[in-house]
Order: sequence, then structure tokens, then C-alpha cells
Amino acid sequence: MTLCEMAVDVLTTADGREKTARSRRYAAAWFAAREAGEMPEVGHAEAPLRPSRPEKPELLDPRDVPRRRPGSPQGRIALLHAVAHIELNAVDLHWDIIPRFAHVKMPPGFYDDWVKAADEESKHFNLMCDCLEEAGSFYGALPAHAGMWRAAEETVEDFMGRLAVVPMVLEARGLDVTPGMIEVFRKADATSAVAALETIYAEEVGHVAYGSKWFHFLCGRHDEDPKDAFHTLVKRYFKGSLKPPFNEEKRAEAGLPPDFYWPLVDQNRG
Ligand SMILES: [Fe+2]
Ligand SMILES: [Fe+2]
Repeated sequence: MTLCEMAVDVLTTADGREKTARSRRYAAAWFAAREAGEMPEVGHAEAPLRPSRPEKPELLDPRDVPRRRPGSPQGRIALLHAVAHIELNAVDLHWDIIPRFAHVKMPPGFYDDWVKAADEESKHFNLMCDCLEEAGSFYGALPAHAGMWRAAEETVEDFMGRLAVVPMVLEARGLDVTPGMIEVFRKADATSAVAALETIYAEEVGHVAYGSKWFHFLCGRHDEDPKDAFHTLVKRYFKGSLKPPFNEEKRAEAGLPPDFYWPLVDQNRG
């Protein structure tokens, strides 16, 4: 199988655990070949407009997803469930980019980064499922946000737009909010959830960094100013403004300087 065929196989697998099992198996095969000094074929394949998903969770408009107090056990389950849902979307988002933009010639290192991130997202989903099961629940037990695939649909024809919105806005947002989430579970002595979220937090810095690195690469290829291009693309494809407080330290570590995101705060207000 080519890398694009592997990606489409992951995207068209509905069950979450099965999707991540395939994802991790394909990532292992990719890296085994790379370590043997080979460059497997990327190829071409048609990515579905929307990935296959399990029947549950029910997908609701974000306004209709019930809010629960994070201090309660039910609230912590809801939080883990929401993160599991984000991670499953992240698995599909990472695999989607490979066939979707296979017509754009990229260096091998781009695919190494994307396959590694897809593998890590798969691990993150499994970690969240393990935590939910430990707490007596499971992924699919609660409703989840519909519309998480919107960023993918809106950037379906724009590779740089995809990089700007997904890793550099959405995954960067994860860096802002994860420390607060870790605190919620630490206060509840939920040690396995703390450990899982710390793994996620550490690895997400890398995902934002991959986004920034390849966004800058494409800007350089097209002789565009990265900051200006980022502002234009985020305004075009991302509905809503960026919300402080920002995790400036981790954003810097990921190659996202303040003049990229501060000018996008409140962009749609007034
Ligand atoms: Fe993740
Ligand atoms: Fe990620």
C-alpha cells in the first residue's frame, strides 16, 4: 500500500479503536521502512470529504452539548470525553492532509512529521478511552461537538490554509488550555488522567511545531511573508477570534511568535 492508500484506509474506518489500531500499524510500517533507509511511495488516493465515524457519540451543535461542572466526577468524565473526541478528529485530520494535498510535492521529512503526529494522536485517543473506561464510562457514552471537521472542509483546497488553521490555530489552542485541564485532574487525584494529559501536552508542542515549520517552508517556496500569509488565511478560514490567555512559552517553543496570534484577537468584533 502507498502512504495515501493507508491514509484513506484509516479515514474510512469508523470504529475509534480500530481506526487508531490501523493508524499505529501504518505508522510503524512507515518508520520501519524509513529506518531501513527507504522512502516508501506516497502515491495518490481520493480522500473522502468526511471520515467514517462510529454511530456513537451523537454529534450535536456545540450550543446543545450539555455543560457539566468540571469539579464533579461527571464533569471530569465529560472533559475526558471531549478530549477523546478532539483526538479522534486529530487522527483523521493528520491522515487527511496526506492524500488531500498529495499533488503538492513535499520533502520526505514532511511525511515523517505527519505520520509521527498521526501516530501520536492515535495514542492520545486510546489514552483518553482508557481513562474513560477506568472511570466507568467510554467514548460514545456522551454527545460530542459536531462541526469539528469544519476546519478540514473549509480548507479542502488550500494546503497553507489547512496548516494555518489546524496546527497553528486549533492545536496551538490546545497548548493554552491543557495545563488548566491537568490541574482539574490533579486536584481530584486522578493520576492516570494527569499522566495521559501530560503526555498529550508534551507531544502537542511538536504538532504545532510541525505546522509552523511546513507553513514557513511553503511561504518560502512561494516567496510570501509568513506572518502576513498567516493573518490572511486565518481570517479567511477560521470563524471567530483567537482567545487569550495564550501559552506564550509553549507557543514560542513550537515556533509561533506573538506577532502571529495577538493581532487576530477580537478580529471579528466591533
Ligand atoms: Fe493529540
Ligand atoms: Fe495534535
